[in-house]
Amino acid sequence: MVHSNNTDINIMIRIFHWFLVALFIALFITGNNNNGGNAIHIISGYLLTSFVLARIVWGFMGNENALWHNYLYSPKSTFNYLLKLSSLTPVKFKAHNPAGGTMILIMIIMLVAIITSGLLIQSLFELEGIFLLLATYVNDSQALIIKDIHFFLSYILLVTIGFHISGVIYSSYIYKANLPIMMVTGKITFFNKKKLIMSTYKYIALLSLYAFNVHSGAIDFNQLYRSWGVDITTINTTQGEQLWKRELIPNKSCTSCHTNNLKKNGTHVKTKKLIKPMSPKINQKRLTNTKKINKWLKRNCKFTYKRECTAAEKVNFIEFIRRN
Ligand code: HEC
Repeated sequence: MVHSNNTDINIMIRIFHWFLVALFIALFITGNNNNGGNAIHIISGYLLTSFVLARIVWGFMGNENALWHNYLYSPKSTFNYLLKLSSLTPVKFKAHNPAGGTMILIMIIMLVAIITSGLLIQSLFELEGIFLLLATYVNDSQALIIKDIHFFLSYILLVTIGFHISGVIYSSYIYKANLPIMMVTGKITFFNKKKLIMSTYKYIALLSLYAFNVHSGAIDFNQLYRSWGVDITTINTTQGEQLWKRELIPNKSCTSCHTNNLKKNGTHVKTKKLIKPMSPKINQKRLTNTKKINKWLKRNCKFTYKRECTAAEKVNFIEFIRRN
């Protein structure tokens, strides 16, 4: 949807588009498990029927860029447009370019055919639905042919959707506009080259940092402690072992699950599941991920003390674990 006049993509078109996506996925999955007559398939089918009907009517009387005549291009102009595409010189069109417009018309026509055959199947096989009167005029082999058509067209539609998506990606590229985002927000969104490059760098940097963190076990503990608000010059790491065994609530301490010996396996007091040794010297995966440390400290302190640990307690625990 690239507009020459900078109009937004109408909210109705966007809602219709994404509902269609959701319904197609639901219908395709539920229709494929040899159980096409199931409730979800039928309900989604009727939803789809009403959406498509409403959209067709709206295309004759609705918002400017929803009107069908804006999608109608002669095969010749569509073909010419496709030829020009390869030279990467986009031509601006009202509402849709000829290739996109033709594609949408084809998809709508296929949807109508799939819906009609689906409704027929429901009447012929389940003896329900709006085509029930036809049931007496259609024999079994004809009914089976209709079923085949329904299946066949759904697969062809899937292929067409593949073309549609490739077309969107290609047009996004040549128009330098982020069409998928525009279909969500409705606003014309151009790719900003500098921004795009910067965010790509950012994600690569974040990803490699993350990979580094997970695989090399390189945590900057001083930084972690600072993130807890601890002044690292005043750290006192001698109390860790006592804290580890401390029972603020009778019979509950860190040793309950992790045992007295950091180098040994522990057992979860409730689930009885095995907990691997806490010592990073034995278990190289220990203390290699700040998210994991923060998560488990929060959870385990709440379990053991019925409150979160203070920053100083957390530092002492981690230092104790690191040294043993
Ligand atoms: C109810 C059982 C239980 C208790 C009690 C318990 N923990 Fe844990 N702890 C776990 C489990 C389960 C895991 C995560 C399993 C794993 O990583 O193997 C874990 C993980 C951790 C981790 C993350 C280690 C890492 O790999 O980065 C830390 C740190 C930790 N516990 C500290 C403590 C401290 C401190 C106490 C006492 C305040 C405590 N735990 C009490 C069950 C417990």
